[in-house]
Amino acid sequence: MRVLSGIQPSGNLHLGNYFGMMKRMIEYQKNHELFCFIVNFHALTSVFDAARLRHQTCEAVGDFLALGLDPEKSVFWVQSDVPEVTELTWLLSNVTGMGLLERSHSYKDKLAKGIPASNGLFTYPVLMAADILGYGANLVPVGKDQKQHLEISRDIAARFNNTYGETFVIPEADIEDDLATIPGLDGQKMSKSYDNTIEIFIDETSLKQKIMTLKTDSTPVNEPKPIEGNILFSLYSLFLDERGKEELKDRFLTPGLKYGEVKKELFGVIWEHFAPYREKRAQINKDDVVEVMKKGAAKARAVISEYLDKARHNVGVDYYRKQN
Ligand code: ADP
Ligand code: TRP
Repeated sequence: MRVLSGIQPSGNLHLGNYFGMMKRMIEYQKNHELFCFIVNFHALTSVFDAARLRHQTCEAVGDFLALGLDPEKSVFWVQSDVPEVTELTWLLSNVTGMGLLERSHSYKDKLAKGIPASNGLFTYPVLMAADILGYGANLVPVGKDQKQHLEISRDIAARFNNTYGETFVIPEADIEDDLATIPGLDGQKMSKSYDNTIEIFIDETSLKQKIMTLKTDSTPVNEPKPIEGNILFSLYSLFLDERGKEELKDRFLTPGLKYGEVKKELFGVIWEHFAPYREKRAQINKDDVVEVMKKGAAKARAVISEYLDKARHNVGVDYYRKQN
């Protein structure tokens, strides 16, 4: 089973990214064929500062490595090091209906957030389909916000196969209900573009400050606290096993719980959880990142080239070959 997913280097990686995608990817590498990449071509739709993009790309690679992604066991690369993906995007574009892209929630949300409407932003899902289909992925671990993008990829694969004959694997989204949408400090989806994130490799003082400003309701101390939609409960639960979650639930439902105290506790839990990774993170430098990415790109290119050759043949742009 081939598992694949990518992440945009459009800002510092945060707990939503970690629990929604990164942690699960790293677990998959134990017993699956893992393909993981940093999608800097996608980030071009919203980042217009070259120095920042370069920096964030290296940071994202470093974060993954520190968190345990093993480039020997998996295929790990930067999207732009494999230009074949843009050629495949064009081949897929011609079986992608306009309506499919026009219905994209993500496109509409991004416009609403002030990201400039561009051809890149509109065709973003086609590049993502090329990312997935070009590597023959079976399973794509993502958060719920990517569900529709996965449906678009499936649709494009099916259309291509129907038009030109069996070429691509139809991928499945892998979305875990509990981790589908991790809330940010303000209760909206935690996202690099909402300024509501808790970064994975944040410094101690900023982490404390962020947790203390986390939005809570005004239930009096001597009343039971709500669980549903409670950001503090949701974030704390991410770090607990089933039993721990039940205990936390009991504490919330028992009058007397003080949000301020739970916040301090949560700060400690997050800080401790990432302590070993922080140590590893501090040892990773840019030269290591570049070396690892070069090797990763070579492995990725070998795989996508096979799919691309097949697609080029099936659409008939390989005019120099004998007809079959
Ligand atoms: P962001 O919204 O911060 O820009 P990305 O779009 O780069 O995040 O998402 C990278 C991966 O992390 C995707 O698989 C996405 O679904 C997942 N992800 C991002 N934010 C969350 C969240 N708040 N909850 C669950 N998964 C998330
Ligand atoms: N669109 C995804 C996001 O914003 C990133 C992405 C690009 C991706 N290509 C992909 C995710 C391929 C999974 C598979 O999070």
